[in-house]
Amino acid sequence: MARYIGKEMSRVDGIAKVTGKAKYAAEFQISNLAYGFIVLGTVAKGTIKSIDTGEAERAAGVIRVFTHLNTPKLDPKFSMVQTPSRATDEQDKSFRALQSDKIFFNMQPVALVVAETYEQARYAARLVKVSYNTEPHTTDTEAVRAIARVPTQGPPPKPRGNPEETMRTAAVKVEAEYRIPIEHHNPIEPHAAIAVWQGDKLTVFDKTQGVYGVRAHLASSFGVPKENVSVLSPFVGGAFGSSLRPNYYPALTAMAAWELKRPVKVVYTRTQMFTGHGYRPYTIQKVALGAERSGKLSTMIHEVVHNTSNIDEFSDETTLLTRQVYACPNLYAPLKITNTDLPTPTWMRAPGAVSGMFALECAMDELAYALKIDPLELRLINYAEVDPESGKPFSSKALRECYRLGAEKFGWKNRQFEPRSMRDGRLLVGWGMATSVWDAAQMPAAALITLRVDGTAQVASATSDIGPGTYTVMTMIAAEYLGLKLEQVKFELGDTKFPRSPSQGGSWTTASVGSAVRGAALAIGTKLLALANQEPNSPLKGAAAADVEMLDGRLQLKSDPSRFVNISGVMKRNGLTAITETFESRPSEERKKYATLAHGAQFIEVKVDPDVGTVHVTRVIEVTASGKIMNPKASHSQKIGGVVWGIGMALQEATEIDHRYGRIMNPNLQHYHVPVNADILEIETIFVEEDDKIVNPLGVKGMGELGMVGISPAIANAVFHATGKRIRDLPITPDKLL
Ligand code: MOS
Repeated sequence: MARYIGKEMSRVDGIAKVTGKAKYAAEFQISNLAYGFIVLGTVAKGTIKSIDTGEAERAAGVIRVFTHLNTPKLDPKFSMVQTPSRATDEQDKSFRALQSDKIFFNMQPVALVVAETYEQARYAARLVKVSYNTEPHTTDTEAVRAIARVPTQGPPPKPRGNPEETMRTAAVKVEAEYRIPIEHHNPIEPHAAIAVWQGDKLTVFDKTQGVYGVRAHLASSFGVPKENVSVLSPFVGGAFGSSLRPNYYPALTAMAAWELKRPVKVVYTRTQMFTGHGYRPYTIQKVALGAERSGKLSTMIHEVVHNTSNIDEFSDETTLLTRQVYACPNLYAPLKITNTDLPTPTWMRAPGAVSGMFALECAMDELAYALKIDPLELRLINYAEVDPESGKPFSSKALRECYRLGAEKFGWKNRQFEPRSMRDGRLLVGWGMATSVWDAAQMPAAALITLRVDGTAQVASATSDIGPGTYTVMTMIAAEYLGLKLEQVKFELGDTKFPRSPSQGGSWTTASVGSAVRGAALAIGTKLLALANQEPNSPLKGAAAADVEMLDGRLQLKSDPSRFVNISGVMKRNGLTAITETFESRPSEERKKYATLAHGAQFIEVKVDPDVGTVHVTRVIEVTASGKIMNPKASHSQKIGGVVWGIGMALQEATEIDHRYGRIMNPNLQHYHVPVNADILEIETIFVEEDDKIVNPLGVKGMGELGMVGISPAIANAVFHATGKRIRDLPITPDKLL
């Protein structure tokens, strides 16, 4: 019986966070610190003609103004681009600031002013005068859609069956285009770094999702061995993908610190965050579905074009999961990208899936109306019993139960099929639903445990905790398998001195790092058993590692706990004050025989004011199945966060660009709208637990990102049901409903 796993646990780092003891990147106290402030350019493309730093340099407190004219070359040694699931830290073609006079995007960094105080640097930044030779730019993805190309990474996906022919002959078809604007991650904590050089050794405090990635980026930028670079990131105030790829500011900060022989800190302003990291790309999706009259899908065609930059290539893999959602014999789901004079897009919460499932799940709703079949019924008719892509069985898939439970809780059977048929006074009521899916990934990861003779344990791995509760869940896993109390275990992360883990992304942390922590704990038990059984009268003689467990300071036989040794006694008799084990976990071979996905269903009610076009999401039931839920308290928080963001995506969020200037017009939280408390009404999140022994030893699947997938289409479908208007371009703002 588990003592911690599966129980509601408050965050072990909660008190540190709310009392200010938790230190974020910008908060480390370093003596003799200088402050850098970034100057952003004002044109979208061209070259810097002249840059006048004289007045800024003469301003009070200014130490130096860095521009492309006096900044040493930061040499990217590597030049491959990959998705995070395949990336290694050698694959680094990240944009580096102040390396030439070339302008790739508007609001590109063109100078860094370093001064004795932040205020002095910020003031002097306004005195830097830049003139440009401008060139014609393109920031509108629509304008370059026709010249989109297949990304260089990976081969173009092959069609399944004969999609063209079967689409032509389908009894019922729908076809439409859907659009998602550029959206930006807006974590509360702005990106920040402090860089300190001691000789040729560099220490950087950074807000990052992966300290090893930043270390490799800095080592390659400065041509120093990786071992010379330490990156620390113990606390992160949200990131959502914005810190998966090394951003330009850590290398910029370290460059200034090197040149000035003095520690330097750089913090983005909210505005600088809009071109300081990537964003969800502008995505155009054409979906065509063909079906038999019975509702059985015969063909799915899902074609995507999204933007990338002129600096680097990014593919959101928007159609990846389209291939695995519904049973369908004929399918074509290609993706193309097209260059724009903007920063490079990047992964943003549930990348690809959240966009792809918006289009696909709206199209499924359109098909349901074309067929006059209930939208939930249509999903059930096309339920994939095995992975339609590979033919492999699912390691587990409780989606049917998610549909059933969600529909029951929501009262879906009382839904009237016709649009505009349900009302609440003068408000139009709409009920919509959608399916969600996310990859249950596991990455190689390592953890170390030092068990001390006093019964306390240090557990560490160089993962990150961007908010999901990684500190807490790793502490729970270690305490569980070491048989210790929660307070006897201290888990540490966010430091390159710890064993290597993947970046925190893809919702793979608990599966990956958790498996490593479990493995390290079991390795400690194995070591103790060997030591115990060297003793002549060991009560555990003949026991194998799998037969024993640790509990309350004892190593005992699982089948007969009266046969045990005291762990401290074994250690003392062997002259040990501590035992340390490092364990690297990898996905199992067994896993490869299965498709491993997490699923969910969402049922959403909206109320639309027919006179002013406002939409309120009045009720959300989200049911998800993502294996074992380790800490329901943290997991519900993740789900609620996903739903709230889905509401933002559906109704509010858009990065607006004035294409005449190629410039973002709303780089702030005043004009980039996100949901506030007044926008959020009833949200219920429910887990259907799956007992999955295949996916990994803990039975966990990624759940953080899953919570957002399916929310925006369920809302769009509910808006259609309420109003009879099919809005295919997000966000669904009031003007589109009038
Ligand atoms: Mo998430 S976009 O994988 O940080």
